[in-house]
Amino acid sequence: MNSYIPEDKIEEIKSRANIVDLVSEYVTLKKAGRNFVGLCPFHKEKTPSFTVNSEKQIFYCFGCGEGGNIFTFLMKINNISFSEAVRNLAGKLGVVIATRHISANEKKSLSIREGLKQVNLAAAGYFSKNLFSEAGRPVREYLKKRGLKDSVIKEFNLGYAANEWTNLGDFFKRENISLKLVEEAGLIIPRKSGGFYDRFRGRLIFPIEDIGGNIVAFGGRILGDGEPKYLNSPESPIYVKGKNLYGLNRTKDDIRKNDYVILVEGYFDLLSLRNSGIFSVVATLGTAVTRDHVDLIRRYTRNLVVMFDPDEGGISAIERSLKLFLEGNLHTKVVVLPDGHDPDEYAKKLGREGLSEAVAHSQSMVDYYIEEIMGSRKTFEDNLDLTEAAISFISSIGDVIQRNLFIKRVSEKLNIDQELLKRETNRKPKPRTDLKEDVSGKWKSEKVDALELSFIHMMLEYPHKLPEIANGGILDYFTSEDLKRLGNILKQSYGKNGDISASDIVSGLEDGALKKRLLKLIMSESPYDVTVVDKIFADLAKRIKQKWYKKKHIRLKRELIKAQEMDDRKSCSMLLVEKQRLLTEEREKVF
Ligand code: UTP
Ligand code: MN
Repeated sequence: MNSYIPEDKIEEIKSRANIVDLVSEYVTLKKAGRNFVGLCPFHKEKTPSFTVNSEKQIFYCFGCGEGGNIFTFLMKINNISFSEAVRNLAGKLGVVIATRHISANEKKSLSIREGLKQVNLAAAGYFSKNLFSEAGRPVREYLKKRGLKDSVIKEFNLGYAANEWTNLGDFFKRENISLKLVEEAGLIIPRKSGGFYDRFRGRLIFPIEDIGGNIVAFGGRILGDGEPKYLNSPESPIYVKGKNLYGLNRTKDDIRKNDYVILVEGYFDLLSLRNSGIFSVVATLGTAVTRDHVDLIRRYTRNLVVMFDPDEGGISAIERSLKLFLEGNLHTKVVVLPDGHDPDEYAKKLGREGLSEAVAHSQSMVDYYIEEIMGSRKTFEDNLDLTEAAISFISSIGDVIQRNLFIKRVSEKLNIDQELLKRETNRKPKPRTDLKEDVSGKWKSEKVDALELSFIHMMLEYPHKLPEIANGGILDYFTSEDLKRLGNILKQSYGKNGDISASDIVSGLEDGALKKRLLKLIMSESPYDVTVVDKIFADLAKRIKQKWYKKKHIRLKRELIKAQEMDDRKSCSMLLVEKQRLLTEEREKVF
């Protein structure tokens, strides 16, 4: 799996990284006993069951069962491969991994993604330099006219693409960078006659970052009037529109700190709010809200404030997105913008104080939907449509209390019988089948021997006891082959290093019942007081042996019955002798 990244590099990364810090970049963690807990980023939940153990450098969610070490976490949260996770962390921690260790295949896909990021970074540098050059003066004036401070312009790394056909292409040529890659990044476009021309010409440039801080795409606004007003990078291996929120990488710390986020649609809206001193903000860049957006937001806060323009488009957007917000368990409020204003203009008009005030007095989006949108449609046909829409809505609300409240209010507003609404909404299939619900009970049915698992857990908790234990040969009595193998791995690992790493062991296991149960045990509070460790070990060993003998006895008994039925005396007496031997052996070994 990781043969091309040298083991010592992986070790170096592990020794430098801290899982609590790493996870904290994505999840708000609170100390709880010997662990840290927070809301799981991998499934929808309201009470924290996502647990991180800094001592053992592993995480586990008691809700959905996801678990592993630093690498597993990065792989799952960013949907990347093991080697990408290793490389990401290496980059962050300053661990140098020579490229020759990469296998050909991995190298290809990795180098494309890495290459695209580097191309974008270089292009952003080029655009920014342009903005601050003589040629960029009119653009700087434009920004000034729109009220943006230098600090915001710099923080968001704005730039300028001059109104020429091959400026950027020529730049990359001079830099000796493959134009194929620049094309794949969407920055240049091939001509039929050969060669390339620049996508962004005569535009103010907004680099778009992912939450890892990589520049994954660009937006370019025309200077003055013209069509299209905004031009954006096409999707690429590093950029998927519906999965990205503009500005989040710069605003996420503020969002977490303030525990709410304002959602806007445009580049300028976001920058303008930041400019006014309202920091918790993200932008969808004019596209419809997606589930991925909701999931992304939920990593940082549950409280959303939508700045909303009550025109036709705005209303249908609210109908579509409210459903997603409800399904995603976000508490959503709306700030209704005055006629013809967008958040940018509104922010300029109100300033920081006024904006804070407006946010503080914002109305719940559900209320707004029921009162203003439902309430405004009065004809019979409207009402039928609305009933349909309402039923669809109510069905999508996961939270029972919220759902009942909604039913009550809708029934009053639309004058529909409550019971009828209830019945209709229950008929609709359950929403969000693609979202992992709590499944804590699910794997319990899969068989993992509890005693043997406890023993393995003790081995992990108290490795210094291992030499003593291993000599007892207890692992030979294990009935679960998986656990036996695991026990032997622990033994060997301890023999070699004088210690064992829970993080290594856990990440070496395949996803499944065993891994989940082991993680769960490790994450639970320290099971026993040190003073009774010996006793516990002895007791567990005894019970494991007893169980092993019991199994043997049962099997012997079955064979004996069979032999008796067949009147096979020879076998009978042999089996009886064996039974006697087993009893004696058990007395010696177990008691
Ligand atoms: P707006 O038209 O509201 O633009 O589109 P804006 O952000 O307020 O920009 P200014 O204030 O006129 O300069 C909202 C967002 O929709 C996307 C952009 O991301 C924009 O910020 N959009 C809009 C496009 O992608 N292409 C377009 O042609 C227009
Ligand atoms: Mn605007």
